Amino acid sequence: MTLPDWPAPKLRGNRLPGHRYTSRAFFEQEWERMWTRVWLLLGRESEIPEAGDWQREDVGPESFLMVRQADGGIKAYYNVCQHRGARLVTEEKGHARRFVCPYHSWAFQLDGVLAFAQDAEDFPEGDPCGKLRLEEVRCESFAGFIWINMDPDCVSLQDYLGPIWDDWSRYELDTWKRYLAQTTTLPVNWKVVIDNFNESYHVPTVHRVRGTPEERKRMHSGVDTNYKNTRFDLSEEGHNRMIMAGGYAGASLNQDGSIGEPLNTIMREWGLDPADFVGRGHETREALQAAKRKLGPGKNYTHYAKLADEQLTDAFHYTLFPNFAVSLWSDGFHFLRARPHPTDPEQCVFDNFWYASQPEGETSPIRTTAGIVPRDQEVERQIFEPGDVSLGRTIDQDVEIFPLQQAGLRSRGYKGAYLAGQESRIRRYHELIDDYIEGRR
Ligand code: FES
Ligand SMILES: [Fe+2]
Repeated sequence: MTLPDWPAPKLRGNRLPGHRYTSRAFFEQEWERMWTRVWLLLGRESEIPEAGDWQREDVGPESFLMVRQADGGIKAYYNVCQHRGARLVTEEKGHARRFVCPYHSWAFQLDGVLAFAQDAEDFPEGDPCGKLRLEEVRCESFAGFIWINMDPDCVSLQDYLGPIWDDWSRYELDTWKRYLAQTTTLPVNWKVVIDNFNESYHVPTVHRVRGTPEERKRMHSGVDTNYKNTRFDLSEEGHNRMIMAGGYAGASLNQDGSIGEPLNTIMREWGLDPADFVGRGHETREALQAAKRKLGPGKNYTHYAKLADEQLTDAFHYTLFPNFAVSLWSDGFHFLRARPHPTDPEQCVFDNFWYASQPEGETSPIRTTAGIVPRDQEVERQIFEPGDVSLGRTIDQDVEIFPLQQAGLRSRGYKGAYLAGQESRIRRYHELIDDYIEGRR
């Protein structure tokens, strides 16, 4: 079983001038015409399991509440009181019977309806209770994540996600747990971050590994990112996929032909002896696929039965329009998200999370990009100033280069991007933003 290619939409080849990353006018157009009309991955179902549990997330100038309802469903609201506009909550998450506004104590039920207003008889337009309600936004769940859309006339989430829906449905992602959750602000436009995750052209420079030119094309995590060995897909819906064959296998070979890390450990975990593969590194991918097929069910890796062969071993990298990037492994989900700043085009909010599969009885620790974490240690989110905490070596290296680009994008001497073929995903994203702004979407 192999995953089919996606249809490749035509690219126009627009030049991408620097003002797209710096201008307030462009930032406002993006907000009004694009952000308010796309599905945004915002929350996690497992964070709000019980009726009354709620989670808050902000995007640009807006703040949203996702609330578990009495019937088990989830509703999402703008985090704004309908009396005179105060924010209802400022905490990140919690549990409530009603949302009581901190200004004049109006109280809204979980279903959004206003249940209490002080001096309710004193309103010339009539008692607001039972009449006013929190403003709702479209809200759907997929892969255990809660998504919202500010456009009441939007397409369904499934239609919006297109082929992502099928690819991801195979992994049982709704059962995966979180082992890394970091949020920080970055002094760059949100597209600087997302452009970076839409290309691997920077890898040999920014994530430099010492060694032969071949080895230098490899990232610290052991993924072979040479574009000639990589499969790229662009979808009509606007999302991108990049598949690096062999994942860790592609790049774990030592000079003497022996199997290095992390492939060595992974092979042992699946009952293979790396010594049997000295000088035959190219055979490890299929061997690992066969071993996972054979041993997976017995080890309760139930999702393996649904995964395509390449999903068992390869490095999948997705970018979901407009602001979500993920590296997806058979058992790991590296979640990268950039959200616009409320007012400043030259800042954004960056999230770096890691989720891992949960085969029953599995005890081996979780290998995240920011280190190895015990399996029993699901984490709370850390929010910090840039540079205060490491985001893991690879992401630290990315984040360090971003401000240099932001500064250059501001220059009168910058004439717009000159993109390589392997940077087509960047071009596609920017053309889609223009499609939204110019009314083609
Ligand atoms: S603004 Fe919320 S009760 Fe007045
Ligand atoms: Fe990078």
